[in-house]
Amino acid sequence: NASPDQGTDLAYRVNSPDVRYHPDHIEADYRYQNTKVSQDASGRMIAEPTETHYQFKTESRLPRVGIMLVGWGGNNGSTVTASVLANRLGISWHTKEGLQRPNYFGSVVLSSTVKLGVRADTGADVFVPFHDVLPMVHPNDLVIGGWDINRANLADAMARSKVLEYDLQRQLRPHLEGLVPLPSVYYPDYIAANQSDRADNILPGSDKQAHLDQLRRNIREFRQTNALDKVIVLWTANTERFSSLEAGVNDTAENLLHAIRTSHSEVAPSTLFAVASVLEGAPFINGSPQNTFVPGMLELAEQHRVYVGGDDFKSGQTKMKSVLTDFLVNAGIRPLAITSYNHLGNNDGFNLSAPQQFRSKEISKSNVVDDMVAANHLLYPRRPANGPNGTKATAEPATEHDGPDHVVVIKYVPAVGDSKRALDEYYSEIFMGGRNTISLYNTCEDSLLASPLILDLVILTELMTRISYRVLPTAASSSLPSEVPEYAPFHSVLSILSYMLKAPVVPPNTPVVNALSKQRSAMENIFRACVGLPPQNDMQLEHKAF
Ligand code: NAI
Repeated sequence: NASPDQGTDLAYRVNSPDVRYHPDHIEADYRYQNTKVSQDASGRMIAEPTETHYQFKTESRLPRVGIMLVGWGGNNGSTVTASVLANRLGISWHTKEGLQRPNYFGSVVLSSTVKLGVRADTGADVFVPFHDVLPMVHPNDLVIGGWDINRANLADAMARSKVLEYDLQRQLRPHLEGLVPLPSVYYPDYIAANQSDRADNILPGSDKQAHLDQLRRNIREFRQTNALDKVIVLWTANTERFSSLEAGVNDTAENLLHAIRTSHSEVAPSTLFAVASVLEGAPFINGSPQNTFVPGMLELAEQHRVYVGGDDFKSGQTKMKSVLTDFLVNAGIRPLAITSYNHLGNNDGFNLSAPQQFRSKEISKSNVVDDMVAANHLLYPRRPANGPNGTKATAEPATEHDGPDHVVVIKYVPAVGDSKRALDEYYSEIFMGGRNTISLYNTCEDSLLASPLILDLVILTELMTRISYRVLPTAASSSLPSEVPEYAPFHSVLSILSYMLKAPVVPPNTPVVNALSKQRSAMENIFRACVGLPPQNDMQLEHKAF
């Protein structure tokens, strides 16, 4: 139900020779400024400003988009579906606090704003909804479907999850009863044994090629039946164990496809879904921590130029960690220990009470402070790598450092249901050897944090499929300065989604950024660049004059 010209109807227009609005796309010139650092003969660092001329092209017509959730009947799957319906139908409900209207709080795209600039007359800041920076699809227009190993319809799944208020559930039930997940792939040793009672809606047999073919048919049929232009597949099913990475099995795209044909044990259900999506040209997002994106899977995505993003929704504790550690380290305070406890009583917690599934989560939660620690060698001095007795083994620069102790504990406590508790202690060294302890206690429904992230991931991934770019050669970089390359998509691994993800998967040789504020400015500034606007800065020079 998206109108064809909805996309060009933005709340603002950029008035600049660098931006050209066409009936079906926006084209912008953008000069990307960076600083290149090298070393001279004496070892002194030399910083040189650089400028690269990019052109961005954003298709502005909004497509009709469907999302297929793997784990549709879970707490996240049922909550996101029910909440989109409540928003679309405008259903309000009574709570003891009064009448509650539906909203999209917790979604960066729908409930946050971006500073567009300052008012020409008063200099006051002017903000626009994030959703209006570029033409983006609205969640109310999404068609939602998916798979689950459990056959409960979405009304029963919503009731089972105990997330939404009863008065809302009561009104939504008739709209959800008819939605039944497609049968899914179930390989028991990938998820906790305690999940076996749920598995009553599964594809027969153990032939992985037959399963792959069926998933591909499901995606095609969903696209056709709902007359969709695009489908995005998102894994919000149980956390799986890690697959073992084996040469000849999942190391290349070809080997992975062969491993599927021979039903090799180390092809996880989530990887099978990712392969099916890529082969159907549908972007795939992994909301759980396991290594769905084995090297062969990423190679396949690159070969087919289909977008993938992951891993593991960054909804609560880790989000706080990627803010607080950034703050501490940038304030010159040295975290010595970060200790995190969680307890939760939903099915996710039940599944994570098994050691292998907990291990996947532990790994995904553990690297989140690495980039912030590595950025400050004053607090965390680098020491020689690999050398015996502290001597340098090679001519490589010393890059290892001792970061803070970092421990994560997760316990299953059925009584608290989806209302997860997260307790964190940040123990830091301050001025003159002093110590500082910050304790956090966080509680709320886990699925009400994750559901808006699911929508953000889908909306931004869809937007990325409509943006292409090229780098214009400069006289210095090319012998043929007039040669203009074709527009091309971005790398198939969408690192721009990192804000929503605990353990961002990035293209090869790309640094992982976990700090939340940097992740947000990357999104904001790339989208600004697409309409020829300079990156957001907080200098406010116009207000600093005498
Ligand atoms: P859930 O346990 O309520 O839902 C998972 C659903 O997946 C269940 O309905 C289950 O039957 C289904 N399932 C399991 N294996 C499947 C397969 N092979 N194919 C299709 N369906 C399958 O869990 P919840 O709370 O919805 O979380 C989903 C995932 O998101 C978990 O892996 C969790 O770790 C991850 N996550 C959740 C966050 C949150 O805040 N809720 C944050 C970060 C990650």
